[in-house]
Formats: sequence, structure tokens, C-alpha cells
Amino acid sequence: MPSKIINKLDLDTPALIIDLDLLEANIKTMSDYFATVKPKLRPHMKTHKIPKIAHMQIDAGAIGVTCQKLGEADVFAQAGIKNILVSNQIANNEKIRHFIDMTRWADVTVGVDDLEVARKISDEALAANVAAKVAVEVSAIRCGIEPHEPALKFVKQLARLKGLRFMGLWVHEAGTTPAIDVASEISWQKRKDAHYKGLDAVVETKHMIEESGIPVEIFSAGYTGTYDMTGEYPEVTDVQAGSYVFMDWPYRQLEGMEKFRAALSVLTTVISLPAHKRDIAYTDCGLKNISSEHTGDYTKIVFPKVKGELGDVIRVKGLSEEHGHLQGEVNKLKVGDKIEFIPSHNCTTTSRYDVAHVVSGERVVGAWPILARGKHY
Ligand SMILES: Cc1ncc(COP(=O)(O)O)c(C=O)c1O
Repeated sequence: MPSKIINKLDLDTPALIIDLDLLEANIKTMSDYFATVKPKLRPHMKTHKIPKIAHMQIDAGAIGVTCQKLGEADVFAQAGIKNILVSNQIANNEKIRHFIDMTRWADVTVGVDDLEVARKISDEALAANVAAKVAVEVSAIRCGIEPHEPALKFVKQLARLKGLRFMGLWVHEAGTTPAIDVASEISWQKRKDAHYKGLDAVVETKHMIEESGIPVEIFSAGYTGTYDMTGEYPEVTDVQAGSYVFMDWPYRQLEGMEKFRAALSVLTTVISLPAHKRDIAYTDCGLKNISSEHTGDYTKIVFPKVKGELGDVIRVKGLSEEHGHLQGEVNKLKVGDKIEFIPSHNCTTTSRYDVAHVVSGERVVGAWPILARGKHY
């Protein structure tokens, strides 16, 4: 059914907006790159949570998807997506049962780094007469098993568990992405050197496992900030880039990221210009409607940015629960004006909405449900 709302400025606010032309351009930029290298793209769904976009990414060449939670994976599997890797650990009995139930109808692999959990998964799989696909997280910044001997020992133990099918290794070492205030000082080459050092440990571990007679199908690594480094690393099978589809504004400051455009925004209305506060204005977009970003050691807060030329003279000074606090040349605004914020963190912004309005230019051309919204379990 055609949308009754033709112009995006007719939408009620706060409203989440996807710029379709920029989204398509971002997907094409990434898929053009992956058409030139051996590894494939396995885009991360945690950024958009929208099956329609997953299908666009797969149509453009992705081999499957990455999800961060099993509940998220369930939504994408129901939408017909195959080859799903859950880049996380599952630990409680309820999750293990959910995973085994899904194994009957979905193509899903989960991360493991604990032998007791692996045993429980194997037992449940045997009882259900299925083979549960697992991949071992190699430790970098969060969970995981240390590379080399510890990982080899762990994989050999997994191989003895009859209900499991060992798929391979994956790693996430976002430690190679610098904090926003130093991003422009850290070159692409410096980040590549750090990234390759991390990947060296994983590939050495892969070789040790293979030499012990256990095949390793998956070597999954990397993310948006490293896509064109990981994409060229020998033996990597797939790259887990997520943020490139919408591109957060601080992320774009990294060398090489300027190819991707900010495709997500939140439309917000100026609700108050208090006469006694000369350079302050308030909008209806607060923390419930847009996320801020915490970078570095999670102590630095980066706020959204005002979109367009207004962003040169007006900045988001803060976010309270229901209000966006603007500072600067607010005399350029009047109450009732609609402006857009570009999120500093898109993944935690999409999760606040049931639907994204899709625009081409000013025209609203669709409304896509964010089906994995709230599936953070
Ligand atoms: C395990 C894992 N893989 C991939 C990604 C995707 O990273 P990006 O959004 O920078 O592409 C993340 C993001 O946090 C992650 O945790």
C-alpha cells in the first residue's frame, strides 16, 4: 500500500529515518570490495536488525550473517536467512535448549569458550538427534580461549563430544579501533599492523588444529573499521562488518571510512526556545530516542550531530531522557521546526524503534519494521 505520507517532514517525531540511496551506496561500496578478494562478507545484524536489509546484503554477495544474540538470530532465520553465526557465548540451560530447538529448522552456529557449556550443548543435541554447530571464539578483547596451545587443547576436547559439529574459529579485536578524540591521529597502516598481529595468532592456531587432523571450515574475523585489511588476510573466510550500512558519524573520522555515508538519522522537532536562555534550544529527541556513544575506556561520551549546514553552527550539547539539548546559533530555529540528528552510535539507536521510515530524497518510500528490535537475549 502506498504511504500516505509523501514528505519526510510530514512525519511525526521523533522518527527514525533511513536514506535509501545512501544505504544502497554503502552496501554497493562494500560488495564491490568483496568482489575483488577471497573472503566473503558476513554482515553483522546488530546494526540494523531489519531482515529486508539482510536480504539486500545477501543479494549483493554476502554469504550469510552474524548476530550477537540467539534471539536476534531467531528473527533472521525466520526471515529465511541461512548461514548465521552468533558471535557470542550462550551459557544458561534455556539458551542451550533454544539453540538446539533452532538447529532443527535453522542454519545457525554459536560461539563457545567453555567446556561445561559445550558438554551441555552436546548432550541436548544428542537427545534431540541433531548436530549442533559451534565455533570457538579466540580471545582478544572480551570472551574466548587463548590462541595456540589452550585453543588447540579446547578444540580437541570439543571434537570428542558427539553432539557437536566444530565449524572453526572466530575473533573480534575491536581494540584496533581508536577512541574518537585520537581517531584522526591513528593511520590506516598503524591499525592494519595491530590487526594483523591479532590475526597472526588466530591463523597459527588454525594451523595447529588442522595439523592435529581436525578441519577448520570457518575463520571469521574483522569488522567495518578493518574490512579492507581483514579482507586481504590469508585464510580468512568471512568478515563480520556491521556499522558500514549506516555509518556512525564518529566512526567515519577513521582513515578509510569516509567512503561510507551516514544513512541513518532521527527526525526531531524543536519544542522550546526559552527566551531567557539565549543560545539554548530543546528538541523532542532525548536518550529514549537516540543513543550516545561511549568510546575509549567507556568514559568518553560522544553525542549525535545536527545534520546538514545547521550542524556547523549548532551542536547537541547533551541528551536527557526526553529532550535533546542544543547549543549555538539557535536563533536560526523556531519552535515547530523539524531537524535531523545523525547518531553517534547507530546500533543502539535502531534498537529504540519499532519501524524505520525509508526516504529517497525528501520522499517517504517505505516503512520497514525493525523486527529484531528488543531481541537482546
Ligand atoms: C563480534 C563482533 N563482530 C563484528 C562486529 C561489527 O563491528 P562493526 O559494527 O564495527 O562493523 C562487532 C561489533 O561490536 C562485534 O562485536
